[in-house]
Amino acid sequence: MAGKDFLTLADFEPEEVKRLIEKAYSFKQGETPRVLEGKVFALVFEKPSLRTRVSFEVGIRQMGGSCIYLSQQDIGLGVREPEADIARVLDRLVDGVIARVFSHRSLELLAENSSIPIVNALSDLGHPCQAIGDMLTVYEHKGELNGLGMAFVGDGNNIAGSLALACGSLGMDFTIASPRDYRIPSLVWDEAKKRAVENESALRWVETPEEAVGGVDVVYTDVWISMGDESEASARRKIFSKYQISEDLVKGAKPDFIFMHDMPAHRGEEITEGMLDHPNSVVFDQAENRLHAQKAILAQLFEG
Ligand code: NVA
Repeated sequence: MAGKDFLTLADFEPEEVKRLIEKAYSFKQGETPRVLEGKVFALVFEKPSLRTRVSFEVGIRQMGGSCIYLSQQDIGLGVREPEADIARVLDRLVDGVIARVFSHRSLELLAENSSIPIVNALSDLGHPCQAIGDMLTVYEHKGELNGLGMAFVGDGNNIAGSLALACGSLGMDFTIASPRDYRIPSLVWDEAKKRAVENESALRWVETPEEAVGGVDVVYTDVWISMGDESEASARRKIFSKYQISEDLVKGAKPDFIFMHDMPAHRGEEITEGMLDHPNSVVFDQAENRLHAQKAILAQLFEG
């Protein structure tokens, strides 16, 4: 892959993104290569995690490696010590860092100040591991990616941005319905759009969820209040109230659409009570596929 790190899909050629999904698919079908034998990883997490932490810890063990979990309380990234000092220490002691941070800049500082791979386990700007697992899930359910259409309804946040980059790289149409002030940041959007043009797919922003879901293969949503946005919770609940995914809304999608959510999900907010258990919901496949996707990412980084 392009560099030593895995920080954003924007750093990878569309061909490399495709190869990662193929690798993840083959890992899910067959045996796990033990390419991390004897390697030790630091899991540096500034925010809570269920899926990401467990799938990384399980995946690393299955590949022969081991992990040390470090919460924000343990190391105080950028507070107790600057990121650069932490990176230079970890560089001497472990073989790789899996980091979940508030600011994407913290990841860049870790990467710039170490020679070991740094993997983005979620930042304010993106969640590329989630996007690779999600594309594996779409591929499993649809048998293809190129030419499909995805609608994302809600906040133009880290999840939406990584999905836009993935769709643009893979020739999938991507439409986001979000309030005007909550669109995907232009830094991410422009790169996704460039990729979409190269791969003959379309990237669109629309204001209403109905416009977005019309005739699509995939309906996707995420929380309205991401980790770090808690102080805006009540304002966000009002602003996003028209962006809820309901059984009625998804009637506009193709009859065999799939419903996706990266979770944690909030019933009664971004989804109605029944959506996670909707017959077209694939949310638990998504959660499992984090494991296969991340194993593929680590294999790619460590096999060279
Ligand atoms: N947008 C959410 C994703 C959680 C996996 C957050 O950043 O909190």
